Amino acid sequence: MNIEIEKLTPALAEDYARFFDMTPHDVNVDEHKCYCVTWRGDDSYANGEAHWFPTREERRARAIGFVRDGSIQGYLAYSGDEIVGWCNANADCQTCVDYLRSYWPIAQYPTGVRVKSIFCFMIAPEMQRQGVATALVERVCKDAADEGFDYVEAYINKEFNESEHDFRGPPEMFKKCGFDIYAQRDGRAVARKALKKTEIQETGL
Ligand SMILES: CC(C)(COP(=O)(O)OP(=O)(O)OC[C@H]1O[C@@H](n2cnc3c(N)ncnc32)[C@H](O)[C@@H]1OP(=O)(O)O)[C@@H](O)C(=O)NCCC(=O)NCCS
Repeated sequence: MNIEIEKLTPALAEDYARFFDMTPHDVNVDEHKCYCVTWRGDDSYANGEAHWFPTREERRARAIGFVRDGSIQGYLAYSGDEIVGWCNANADCQTCVDYLRSYWPIAQYPTGVRVKSIFCFMIAPEMQRQGVATALVERVCKDAADEGFDYVEAYINKEFNESEHDFRGPPEMFKKCGFDIYAQRDGRAVARKALKKTEIQETGL
């Protein structure tokens, strides 16, 4: 299998939306297509407002806007010219992480600590179990290390549940990619990979 990983750029916004148009996901009900609009860096989380846009059309349009303004960040996996996978990995989404802190035991990061957060995956059904998500995670980690990040984190379910369309990724995959379970609570876990040698003292767990 020949898979190329590309960083999402504003120019790819329409291709990104088309991948969600074409790919069965979530509960495979057309109206539920998410376009991965919940993990973004605008101020709707900070205001405590709902982060779900009610219609599919609105989510699609918002997604294109968010890719263009850089608030949806991540990587696309290509097989030839075709997109076959997506990993949402965001570096500037503090409000998203704050929202997730209600559910996951995510540390308060000391000033200056840089964390890249993996929020979601969508791999085309016919391409699953062929290492696509693994290749995406490996690229996220490589770029994060090159860019000077301290950690890559993912917020996962302790038990992977395929039938629930577990878009957070299997714990086993993160383990194979060098992540440890950093903290866990109520069936949810923070998987973390340290990119630097220094240990950082954290609070808030
Ligand atoms: C979960 C998901 C991200 C895995 O992606 P993938 O490319 O198939 O994963 P990989 O091939 O890299 O698998 C790596 C490892 O993870 C684990 N794994 C992957 N899929 C698994 C599954 N269905 N059940 C159990 N473990 C699994 C395995 O340990 C696997 O290694 P192995 O194949 O050597 O045993 C993918 O199945 C997916 O996108 N599912 C749909 C998620 C969704 O609904 N997204 C939309 C959100 S609205």
